[in-house]
Amino acid sequence: MIKKAVLPVAGLGTRFLPASKATPKEMLPIIDKPLVQYAVEEAIDVGVDEIIFITSNEKHSIEKHFQENNAIAEKLIKSGKEDYVERLNPKIFSDVKFHYINQNNQNGLGDAVLHAEEIVGDDSFAVLLPDDLFFSNISCLRQLIDTYKQTKSSVIAVNKIDKENIHKYGVINPGKKEHDAILIEDIVEKPSADEAPSDIAACGRYIFTPSIFDHLKVTNFDKLGEIQLTDAIKNLIQNQKVYARLYEGEKFDCGSKKGFVHATIALALRDSSMSDDISKIIKEII
Ligand code: UTP
Repeated sequence: MIKKAVLPVAGLGTRFLPASKATPKEMLPIIDKPLVQYAVEEAIDVGVDEIIFITSNEKHSIEKHFQENNAIAEKLIKSGKEDYVERLNPKIFSDVKFHYINQNNQNGLGDAVLHAEEIVGDDSFAVLLPDDLFFSNISCLRQLIDTYKQTKSSVIAVNKIDKENIHKYGVINPGKKEHDAILIEDIVEKPSADEAPSDIAACGRYIFTPSIFDHLKVTNFDKLGEIQLTDAIKNLIQNQKVYARLYEGEKFDCGSKKGFVHATIALALRDSSMSDDISKIIKEII
């Protein structure tokens, strides 16, 4: 099935400066787990066994995070803190192969995904943007896989967006319904509210057939100097069916400060070890 997942993490994280100066934005934690680990766990949960990070020279801590640390494990065991070893070195990581490919220039998300071509080869694969955090009974990626199983075509997760925020996203022109999904007729990167073809936008999880690479290779730089994944999808649609799956569940845009804080509060209120205290604190503040 889908055994490979690409996680682009080479972006500059400008919106999180200065926090993202020496710590990659993707390593910032929601409570006690870095953003990127939530995405890796989502991928492993659907059976992915190769994770391909598109990263940069500045982001070695991501590689370190997914390596086993036996020195600390021994210290934990010696001091009677065995319970923490699983949190340090999760067993689910031991059967996964992690690849790290540098994107030396931040030429956009499309360029980042293209860097994975050699390792992905001829297989369909997933793309997860770690700064989009999803919580649902059936994970976002599993919902996409469900559609992929039925269609054997590329499928992207979408959700509805308010008019005032639509200009930040890749927005689809929806066609007819097929299977559990919507056939995409067109997709437009960051349209103005007036020009947006719908209120349905891509939201950080994708499954692609390997044909996407051919389209990425011929995608031009946009006016901001980036190769947009959306533009390659737009071209892919001319040759193959591409589906949109309306994601059912919660989503937090942790690439923005507001979304990041929202996710932190939501998860804290859900954590039985602190929810009472946190809700008391929030009430006091308000
Ligand atoms: P974003 O635009 O949200 O991330 O890209 P960013 O560029 O790091 O953040 P800001 O806008 O400067 O605050 C979505 C994802 O694509 C990756 C990012 O790391 C993020 O996970 N990305 C983006 C790349 O890997 N390479 C790029 O050239 C651009």
